[in-house]
Amino acid sequence: MTKKIAVLVGSGSQTSISQIVAHHLAKVAPAGLTFNFVQIADLPLYDRDSDNQEIASYQRFRAEIAASDAVLLITPEHNASFSAMIKNAIDIGSRPMGQSLWIGKPAGIVSIGAGAAGGVRAADQLRTVCSGSFVNMPTAPFAANVGGVFNGVVGENGEIVSEPVKNMLAGFIESYAAFVNRF
Ligand SMILES: Cc1cc2nc3c(=O)[nH]c(=O)nc-3n(C[C@H](O)[C@H](O)[C@H](O)COP(=O)(O)O)c2cc1C
Repeated sequence: MTKKIAVLVGSGSQTSISQIVAHHLAKVAPAGLTFNFVQIADLPLYDRDSDNQEIASYQRFRAEIAASDAVLLITPEHNASFSAMIKNAIDIGSRPMGQSLWIGKPAGIVSIGAGAAGGVRAADQLRTVCSGSFVNMPTAPFAANVGGVFNGVVGENGEIVSEPVKNMLAGFIESYAAFVNRF
């Protein structure tokens, strides 16, 4: 059975390496997964008052999450954590109270960092967020951590050229597909 994956990328940069990684993963993923790149850069910052307001981008975002079977969270490391854009999207999907769209959807985590550790702190902190009671997503225990992104990972045409990184990402998406298919 085909699984519909909602892909959330935590960078709106025009030259985002996280976006490059996301599209690479979709390209090399095994058959049986379909990818919907969900726009999150346009979502206003959440607060509880938003629950009583009709915000078109929130409605669009929530409908796309509701229609998905699983989630792939792809985040740059920003100051030793995941990006605020990712957190804002997770908060929006978790509310109004009692209407969280995340609960039970299997999740995978990919981090991107300039440092050699590849944003492992961002990935680990994001896994903690996924365990929150209003998010409660079964999350793959492994993550893909893409490091040294300004040191030969991406080529001039905006594609991943590092063979070790390509191999690591291929292994990750195979494992992620197997994980998602358990649910
Ligand atoms: C505000 C900010 C903070 C950053 N902090 C870290 C960090 O703590 N660790 C790290 O490895 N890279 C850090 N970086 C580098 C980013 O991870 C890197 O630029 C990455 O490419 C950003 O993803 P993007 O290209 O998809 O926007 C930081 C970048 C920014 C803009």
